[in-house]
Amino acid sequence: MYLLSLLAIAPASDPAARARDLAAKLTLDETVSLLHGHTLCGSTSLAPCNHKGNYTGFVPGIERLGVPALTMNDGPQGFRDANHPGTSTCWPSGMSIAATWDPSAARRWGVAMGTEFRQKGANVQLGPGLNVARIPQEGRNFEYLSGEEAALGVALGPPVVEGIQSNGIIATAKHYILNSQENDRGSPKFPPLFGAPVSEVASERTRWEVYMPPFEAAVRAGVGSVMCAYNRINGTAACGDDETLTTDLKQALNFSGWVMSDWFATHSAAAAAVGGLDQEMPLPMHFSLPAFELAILEGRLSRAEMTAKAVRILTPMFAAGLFDRAPDGNLSANVTSMQHAALARSLAANSTVLLRNAPVTATSDPASAAPVLPIGAAVRRIAVLGAAADATPVVHGRGSGAVAPPYVVTPLAGIRARNTRQPTPAHIEYLVADGSAGVAAAATLAAAVDLAIVVVGDSSTEGADRATLALSGTQDALVAAVAAAQPRTVAVVAAPGPVLLPWAEQAAAVVVNWMAGQEAGHALADVLYGDVDPSGRLPHTLPNKDNETRLSVAQYPGVKDAQGRLVSTYTEGNLIGYKYYDAHGVAPHFGFGFGLSFTKFGYSGRNPIVSPSAVPLGSGADIAFAVSNLGERDGIDVPQCYVSYPPHAAQPPKLLRAFARVDVRAGAAADVALRLTPRDLAVWDTTARTWQQVAGRFTVACGPSSRELPLSATLDVGGAVPVEIL
Ligand code: BGC
Repeated sequence: MYLLSLLAIAPASDPAARARDLAAKLTLDETVSLLHGHTLCGSTSLAPCNHKGNYTGFVPGIERLGVPALTMNDGPQGFRDANHPGTSTCWPSGMSIAATWDPSAARRWGVAMGTEFRQKGANVQLGPGLNVARIPQEGRNFEYLSGEEAALGVALGPPVVEGIQSNGIIATAKHYILNSQENDRGSPKFPPLFGAPVSEVASERTRWEVYMPPFEAAVRAGVGSVMCAYNRINGTAACGDDETLTTDLKQALNFSGWVMSDWFATHSAAAAAVGGLDQEMPLPMHFSLPAFELAILEGRLSRAEMTAKAVRILTPMFAAGLFDRAPDGNLSANVTSMQHAALARSLAANSTVLLRNAPVTATSDPASAAPVLPIGAAVRRIAVLGAAADATPVVHGRGSGAVAPPYVVTPLAGIRARNTRQPTPAHIEYLVADGSAGVAAAATLAAAVDLAIVVVGDSSTEGADRATLALSGTQDALVAAVAAAQPRTVAVVAAPGPVLLPWAEQAAAVVVNWMAGQEAGHALADVLYGDVDPSGRLPHTLPNKDNETRLSVAQYPGVKDAQGRLVSTYTEGNLIGYKYYDAHGVAPHFGFGFGLSFTKFGYSGRNPIVSPSAVPLGSGADIAFAVSNLGERDGIDVPQCYVSYPPHAAQPPKLLRAFARVDVRAGAAADVALRLTPRDLAVWDTTARTWQQVAGRFTVACGPSSRELPLSATLDVGGAVPVEIL
């Protein structure tokens, strides 16, 4: 049916041309029908409404013209299906993928998630999440691919978008934009009842340089839709903000897909429908037929402008092939698989960050001292401790990004399974170790074994920020007590974002495994036993204390304006995350980009590592150096290059601009070749409203983390006239 009607209406193969052809044939009612969602079914845990398919968002098809229905579903890191729990893969979260620093891992994750969406009959995935973390305790940091640095989202967002869309479905970049806090964001479901959401006030330059680049990259990768966010921007609801939706997204970035609202994020201020918003979700609170008729009557909106919104929706639908195939997939299908479980495991293992691995002297042989990990064959008795190790494992965040796992391999189960493959399996004992009595019992048990693995962790949720970055309950006391009792203590931390580790220097080893998904335990054991080299690197700075970056109340969570509405002002500009630490000379607990391998790497290169060392405006430069594996094990390193601008550019002391992931065999070396583009040497010019390359002397510094950059060189960018490069 769809093929036939396609032939009847649009001979052109160009999706935009086909969309224009079709949109011209829509009646006003049909156009309006496309411009809003039609059900709340899958958005809540309320009773399913099966006649509508029960997806998170639903827009019925238009049979007369062969337009298929839009079946949209959460979320950014896997298919959320509360009505069929356990039928989709609970993947490592977006932040875990950020910790891989690996675009090819991001692509595999996107392809696999998209496959499950397609098999579930959804043709729009409400993800990926791309926001750059301004606030360390932001409750949705676990969902986002950018960590605290736009360059991560720029590298990882496009392969995820391409991976999802390679399945013939549409990806949604969210939440656009400056959606930096969950506290006071307004109710997800009924904002009018809860007053105005926080207004995020950032300068144009801050918006473009710090928060826009991942969205810009997703647009360049062809993302079909963009979800505008709950917050207000400079006082205007994000979903009604003409500057960021029309001027920035549609005009400057040339986005040709559609903007859908977050759920109930369309506020009356945006109701005129003349702004950049194309589709109100999940119901027509403002985008109703009478509202559109009135807007046309009053001359606020033309019929042509409505048709243009329909074209924006139809274009990605054509591009995804939705008109060229019969709808397929089935919401009740079980779409997880052994292959996806294996992929979830390897992604989680590759996102695991080893923060510390101290040598411990063996009592039997005081002369020898070896790092406590990987777990060796000589370990005979292991204590696994902590509720998070088995009783209440922490493997995913909560809210619309949550996926009900078919099962969870707990850390204890993963360690037990791997232990059986040891030449002589160790004896393993487990204690939940809750409360102060539990802490004391754990310390006693730890003292009696060869190795203690203490697992702690917390999750977080959409709709609320974390009150503190500290671990909850007695978990800090537990690790401290166990580490005091047992020199061979391995602390494992499941974290939904930055986390405080006050005992880190007391534990022999510290591992962070984020929100690792259903295969968490297997992935953890893969790393603890050395089957996989720990190649995750920190996508967030780990601070020494809460609010170490000294955000004022006016910055976060904001202060009330004269109308009693909350306003959060970005006076810190671009000094978030490691940029704050650099600018203020503060040493974080663990720096952005940090992570150990089981081997050791050395950096060397021709002098200078940048060539040419002087370029005219409009040109970039190459970076080349070598990473040598100085140890006896094969390993993976993530060399990173940071650029320091000339002072007149008013940039932070340094900015991540390029990185790679290299597999290096023991004793071998890998050549690393990176490229700095003119854009990497540019700033956002608010007068020209575009990127302008900066003239002057740059420094390029490369190394294994933001705080260890052994190689550096200067790069002179010549000429005085800025060059337009967008
Ligand atoms: C979230 C979105 C989600 C939507 C539908 C909102 O509360 O912010 O990310 O896609 O709900 O569930």
